[in-house]
Amino acid sequence: MMIELLHRERRLRGNETLRKMVRETRLSREALIYPVFVKAGKNIAEEIASMPGQYRYSVDKLGLIFDRLLLAGVKRVMFFGLPAEKDEVGSGAFRHDGIIQTALGYAQDHFPEIYRIADLCMCEYTSHGHCGILQGEGPVGPFDVDNDATLDYLARIAVSQADAGAQIIAPSDMMDGRVKAIRSALDAKDYTSLPIMSYAAKYSSSFYGPFREAAGSAPAFGDRKSYQMDYHNKKEGLKEALRDIDEGADIVMVKPALSYLDIIREVSDAVLVPVAAYSVSGEYSMIKAAAKAGFIDEANIVCETAVSIFRAGAEILITYYAMELAKWIDEGRIG
Ligand code: PBG
Repeated sequence: MMIELLHRERRLRGNETLRKMVRETRLSREALIYPVFVKAGKNIAEEIASMPGQYRYSVDKLGLIFDRLLLAGVKRVMFFGLPAEKDEVGSGAFRHDGIIQTALGYAQDHFPEIYRIADLCMCEYTSHGHCGILQGEGPVGPFDVDNDATLDYLARIAVSQADAGAQIIAPSDMMDGRVKAIRSALDAKDYTSLPIMSYAAKYSSSFYGPFREAAGSAPAFGDRKSYQMDYHNKKEGLKEALRDIDEGADIVMVKPALSYLDIIREVSDAVLVPVAAYSVSGEYSMIKAAAKAGFIDEANIVCETAVSIFRAGAEILITYYAMELAKWIDEGRIG
């Protein structure tokens, strides 16, 4: 049958050259950030059980991963520190010889082409595993994270990370007013040009499970629901992003990514700063496990999910699959 159709969408799907020309979403390795776990000690390169293919490295072994990253053309790294000792106030997070400070200094001296983004949080450094200073009775009685007391610590950590060579500060604690506190502390030390990428819409999520094993940062009691966001809420995610920008955030992040594509879209439609998305540990582990079982094709699934995050409006993607994605972009599979 011959019908008259003005529009035939299939016209632009006829061959790969054409399809690649009319793509609406473009990916670049320049938009990828790779998270690295740095552990106190020596001679450590240990695989994380819940995240096959991901490792904890001691500072002296960081070269292993930095070499691989540079070879893959992935230059941006988010540093997470796993200290030797923890205490009530997470003092390991702001010591000048702390694990993240040492790692930042090492990277600056030995791998200057690696761009250094410092995750700023206290949960890896506190004995109780919460992202701030506790008030109240402690383990047996009621407790809560003291928002305003925590701000002083966050500001201090930010300055110590800047002193150690961080090139972006990325607070992930979810205290109210932290961006303002961090911005003014940095400015007071003349770090006026150091950008802040805030974990703005960070949801209280079970997708962080493998990370907490990787970083040894699961809360010893209670949960993070009094500071991380309730996943029923969308407007609130936008409010968090707008308020962080008001306080001086240069880039805002939505986290996790895959179950929060609507939030990424909402935020990216509303703001005038770059939007980052963090495809978190649980997203990685689910794909790994399903691929290992032979249920899905890993490369195709990772490509499809990564593109969906950019299509939703993210301009930057933090992902444990950064090196593989860079390769697949190169091969023309996506992008
Ligand atoms: C620290 C932090 C977490 C993640 C990034 N920074 C864990 C959490 O909030 O419990 C999660 C990253 C991931 O799951 O890959 N607060």
